[in-house]
Amino acid sequence: MLRIEKISKTFNPNTITEKIALSDVSLHLAPGDFVTVIGGNGAGKSTLMNCVAGTYPVDEGRIEIAGTDITKWPEHRRAKYIGRVFQDPMMGTAANMQIEENLAIASRRGKRPTLRWSSTARDRDRYRELLAGLRLGLEDRLESKVGLLSGGQRQALTLLMATMAEPKLLLLDEHTAALDPKTAEKVLSLTREIVARQRLTTLMITHNMRDALKFGNRLIMMYGGKILFDIPEEKKKHLEVKDLLAMFEQAAGSELVSDSLLLS
Ligand SMILES: Nc1ncnc2c1ncn2[C@@H]1O[C@H](COP(=O)(O)OP(=O)(O)OP(=O)(O)O)[C@@H](O)[C@H]1O
Ligand SMILES: [Mg+2]
Repeated sequence: MLRIEKISKTFNPNTITEKIALSDVSLHLAPGDFVTVIGGNGAGKSTLMNCVAGTYPVDEGRIEIAGTDITKWPEHRRAKYIGRVFQDPMMGTAANMQIEENLAIASRRGKRPTLRWSSTARDRDRYRELLAGLRLGLEDRLESKVGLLSGGQRQALTLLMATMAEPKLLLLDEHTAALDPKTAEKVLSLTREIVARQRLTTLMITHNMRDALKFGNRLIMMYGGKILFDIPEEKKKHLEVKDLLAMFEQAAGSELVSDSLLLS
């Protein structure tokens, strides 16, 4: 579903602030793969997602989604294939618009612009049904402004909006990191439900190694702009955090042990 072939990305090339963020990275995701991504600060995780989403062009390499070469596509064109949720609950939804209006916009992502922007009764029924699935009571609040919601409610709504147009790929960049632990857990289990129900191909960045092991069917570890490990389902099932630590240490040296990744 996603085929990344030898992509590289250097920021500020040929200057003193030059930074190689991705170096010759290849990654293939089969339809329905749910891959968790871990790695320390600056490892290149977000850059990988940004390159897939088209936020930044790659310097080299090729990216395909569902067999289509999208390497040269601008971000807005890729958006019809990709749903994204970021760390900041304030992003991804429009605070001064109603829940219903936000959902209406999300449901039209990737479709032709239409003159009919108001929702029909049938649309509203669908929104209510989708919101009820979040189990946050939002189904009775279609007309509430999104700015009134809590961070967790807002992230759950963003997740719903990112997935309601059935994207070919779901990109989650630490989407629960700004939430308190209990709310984070709730949004993560919602994530698991939605991904499973729609069989979404998903990349999920997390700083929490327990979550990286608990969720998804595959785990990749990035370091220094490269993929250090790609752990398949069978192996992942039997791993514990301490096994991951040992693997990292062996591959990347003790430098990694002091990394903030390990504090989570
Ligand atoms: N827009 C940018 N301009 C310049 N340098 C950038 C830019 N985005 C990322 N970088 C640099 O590229 C490297 C990889 O950054 P990236 O954001 O991908 O890391 P990350 O793995 O997501 O880290 P974190 O866990 O802190 O989010 C870092 O050294 C970062 O400073
Ligand atoms: Mg990041």
